[in-house]
Amino acid sequence: MNLLSDKRILLGVSGGIAAYKSAELVRQLRAAGAVVRVVMTRAATEFVTARTFQALSGQPVWSDWSDDRTSMDHIELARWADRLLIAPATADTLARLAHGRADDLLGAICLASTAPLCVAPAMNQGMWRHAATRDNVRYLQERGVAILGPAEGAQACGDNGPGRMLEPEALVRALSDSFSSGALAGVSVVLTAGPTREAVDPVRYISNRSSGKMGYAIAAAARDAGARVELISGPTALDAPVGVHLTRVESAGDMLAAVLDRVEAGCQLFISAAAVADYRPARPAAQKLKKQAQQWSLPLEPVADILATVSALPRRPFCVGFAAETEDVEQHAQKKRLLKGVELIAANRVGRNLGFDTDDNELLLVWEGGSRLLARDSKTRLARLLIEQIATLYSSQPCLRISTENDAKHSA
Ligand code: PMT
Repeated sequence: MNLLSDKRILLGVSGGIAAYKSAELVRQLRAAGAVVRVVMTRAATEFVTARTFQALSGQPVWSDWSDDRTSMDHIELARWADRLLIAPATADTLARLAHGRADDLLGAICLASTAPLCVAPAMNQGMWRHAATRDNVRYLQERGVAILGPAEGAQACGDNGPGRMLEPEALVRALSDSFSSGALAGVSVVLTAGPTREAVDPVRYISNRSSGKMGYAIAAAARDAGARVELISGPTALDAPVGVHLTRVESAGDMLAAVLDRVEAGCQLFISAAAVADYRPARPAAQKLKKQAQQWSLPLEPVADILATVSALPRRPFCVGFAAETEDVEQHAQKKRLLKGVELIAANRVGRNLGFDTDDNELLLVWEGGSRLLARDSKTRLARLLIEQIATLYSSQPCLRISTENDAKHSA
């Protein structure tokens, strides 16, 4: 499971010999998909150069206040980060954090940021065991700081004992685990994504511009929140997110059959992000249609509405739909919520390079008695916010959950 994909990690490096391992840490964080920015203390620059981190992170490196003391870098960096990780965190750094010192850039960022803070202590075993360090660690833990390590073993100074910085793999794992919200722990989710293709003849079809990016991002976000995710996707160029079970389908009819199969097998949450056809050719030709000189018209018939079908089931899951609108987004979204009988609609403005086949989106969430605008952002980040909102609404309406009989079916 890759919970670090697209996460913004601010890595603070303080001045200890273990700073050389932080270079490898940056490499591994990036390999896991994280975006990493490095802030070095003045002492850290005595051990590793800023250029090393710059090359490995592909981002500028901040060292102390030296870059521009008058700028608001500490506030911008504090707001930017999803997580702060200080590795190595020396005894002095722990003491400074415990006392809320802000006379260097890293300390100021830690005070200004609301992002969770993790520290990976690295120091001599005597310093780690000292009562002052013990007290500082206790203060930090009481404030919710995650203390990662230290490990025990041979130390650079020749001592043996606790105080070695955890290896980069262990830090990447711990950081990744810290992103598992558990908001949908154990919930089984069926989710549709991508376009459908409705055959005209063996070589032609009617479809739309959906790339699947929005739906696949939601699948990954639901997985990260602890859900078991069944993704039913129309044709896309995307790979299944790791840990998500993917069924590929072609037409709206195939999608409906696959959805009903999964929902009936046991599902507590259904999210319909696919751009499903509303109409299909009434009589797809068995052979390739020949070009005709005169105008040609194609009779269409309506396609069953998958979302409305699921929401009308007697033992229905909590249902979330989308609304793709080119105008009057809010009114249409409210209407669709009632028409399709769903708990939540995520509405997006589409057309003119919006919504379909873009990396960014903007969503207006509407539910009974509430709404929330998710401002323009990457589909990955919007998906996480959407899943948070779904989890909040889902957990406040337990009567809508599928019965334990269905849960039992799923786990059987
Ligand atoms: O895939 P991307 O390129 O990332 O683009 C994302 C998106 C724009 C496709 C996505 O954000 C989105 O809006 N998906 C829904 C598209 C759509 O079909 O909207 P609609 O307003 O026509 O349908 C309303 C709801 O009914 C949707 O939840 C849809 O999945 C569902 N529906 C529609 C028709 C149908 N036959 N069956 C359905 O279940």
